Amino acid sequence: MVPQQKIDEIIQATQIQEVVGEVVRLKKRGVNLLGLCPFHNEKTPSFTVSPAKGIYKCFGCGKAGNSVNFIMEHDGLGYIEALKSLAEKYNIEWPKQENVNIDEERKLKTEKESLQILNNWAITYFEENLWQHEEGKTIGLSYFTERGFRDDIIKKFKLGYSLNAWDDLLTKSKTAQFNEDIILKSGLVKQNDQGKQYDAYRGRVIFPIHGANGKVIAFAGRQLIKDDKSPKYVNSPETVLYHKSNELYGLFMAKNAIRQQDFCYLVEGYTDVISMHQAGIENVVASSGTSLTEGQIKLIKRQTENVTVLYDGDAAGIKASIRGIDMLLEQGLNVKVVLFPDGDDPDSYCKKVGSSQFNQYLQQEARDFILFKVNLLLKDAQHDPIKKATVSREIVESISLIPDGLKRSAFIKECAGLLDMPEQVLLTELNKTRNAHLTQKEKEFINQPPAETLNYEEEIKQVIEEYGQKNQETQVIKLLIQFGNKPMEGFNSAAHYMLHQIAEDEIDFELETSALILNEVKHLLHQALPVTSEYFIHHQNPVISSIAANALATAYELSEQWETKFDVLMTKPDENFIKEIQSSLLHLKLRNTQKIMLHNLKEIEVLQQQQNSDALLIHMMLHKELKEKEFKLAQQIGAVILN
Ligand code: GTP
Ligand code: MN
Repeated sequence: MVPQQKIDEIIQATQIQEVVGEVVRLKKRGVNLLGLCPFHNEKTPSFTVSPAKGIYKCFGCGKAGNSVNFIMEHDGLGYIEALKSLAEKYNIEWPKQENVNIDEERKLKTEKESLQILNNWAITYFEENLWQHEEGKTIGLSYFTERGFRDDIIKKFKLGYSLNAWDDLLTKSKTAQFNEDIILKSGLVKQNDQGKQYDAYRGRVIFPIHGANGKVIAFAGRQLIKDDKSPKYVNSPETVLYHKSNELYGLFMAKNAIRQQDFCYLVEGYTDVISMHQAGIENVVASSGTSLTEGQIKLIKRQTENVTVLYDGDAAGIKASIRGIDMLLEQGLNVKVVLFPDGDDPDSYCKKVGSSQFNQYLQQEARDFILFKVNLLLKDAQHDPIKKATVSREIVESISLIPDGLKRSAFIKECAGLLDMPEQVLLTELNKTRNAHLTQKEKEFINQPPAETLNYEEEIKQVIEEYGQKNQETQVIKLLIQFGNKPMEGFNSAAHYMLHQIAEDEIDFELETSALILNEVKHLLHQALPVTSEYFIHHQNPVISSIAANALATAYELSEQWETKFDVLMTKPDENFIKEIQSSLLHLKLRNTQKIMLHNLKEIEVLQQQQNSDALLIHMMLHKELKEKEFKLAQQIGAVILN
């Protein structure tokens, strides 16, 4: 257990905008901050942060919580680990644990945490090999030095060396008490068909891959002697820490520079990233050779909307990459490209011409992607009108992907000139392409089954069967968290009033989370403690804090216009809270009554079949009572229920 005092200290020091700001580019929007949600793919921002309340909420995917929730969700950590990471960030000393049984602690750790500890150990091991071991120094370090990497850069990227031995890492990791299962899962050790285990990276230099939190989540090992029988690079397998399609090499080291300069270079290789850092260019990430994924683009878009793709020379390679670049456009990024002379990649070219000339080259050679594509394709088409038509179509295809209409028109105009075609022709083509996409969406929409086939009673029945009273519960819980401590006539507080009302109808909550919070409220009132939103937002149980954040953030969601929603979201005065509380309780009671009624009706059906007249009579009387109650509640709500 971490002492509550320590938790409070950490929460006090934590600024949600700083925690979220490390991974999401936030813009001010009224009293809140707005950005692209890191938890789902979106093109227009709906991820809101309230510094005043210390919470975040995404209106796209519904994720919400406090700083601890954010770290847990984003870095995949447990509650304590997340707190620890916040403590580290804010230089708060973590309490020394007495009498902890190391074995017990290890067992409790998740696979993720265990893998992380192993990776931390392994990178230290690889670095020590490189800097201290004879073999590492003469083979690994001299390789890097010959490539021109400076010591400070080698250290910055934590480059390492894996000894040319079959089981050096294997033996040492076992001596260090790591679990065999975890060692194998990490991919640091492999096992052949005969069950023999061996080091995966023997005799290779090591490029560690850092995750968004700066921790080493995977490794790449490059061979030192060209050998076509084995791959040039050996990479970690997919693990719970490392999902290749959602990582960009170098992102952690590049993040600040990307934000400062509001653009990012995209290269192919590890060595390109490292060389560019050495040349003073830090806003660079690598896709690591494979084609870009949507997840990777999303990572870039969280930092900037401007990307410059750096290509090594040959035309065939470039054409193959065009689809990847189209994906960048599709995500609304502004894309430029720089081409290197045939045979050179950014790393080799930088070595060849030196830092300052390299920098100059990047600035001079950067071309807008669409215009670059026109020129590239036109080279093939020359004076062939049929080929030119194909080229035009391909260009329009790219342009049609750009979400911004103004940008689209600007490109059409420019390309009309380059292609020597009337603008109107391209525009017609553009609209055709875009319509083709739209009708697809429309089709999907039309294919949804119409809901009006059921009559009113049936509809209620269906809703109750599907949702029960969960929505009503959620609403009541929200108001409890928000206004529980407000004064209420005839009661000690609004929370007292609400609990009284819920008890009056003997309502059992269906949702586990709602029941959990209700219990929490009972507990507080029992101890004569106030029911405050702060209590819930900073609750030790991350489930509760996340619900609280959600409750506070969505309180006015429905009542506000889209455009103004984010501004007023968390600042609306609560003058109407009594009305809202009463109405929400009435709705809950109504739904609860309907639920019981439905259940009773089913019972009646069965009893009718069994011709059990005594029991039938009792159930019919109950039905009548329930019907009256339903009517009264509905009246109170002001709604009209037919029949
Ligand atoms: P150097 O040749 O040392 O300069 O490395 P490089 O990064 O320039 O390599 P290259 O241009 O051949 O490949 C670009 C990127 O593709 C590398 O950085 C790797 O991420 C990836 N890659 C290349 N070869 C392999 C391979 O055999 N296996 C895997 N998994 N990835 C590779
Ligand atoms: Mn290279």
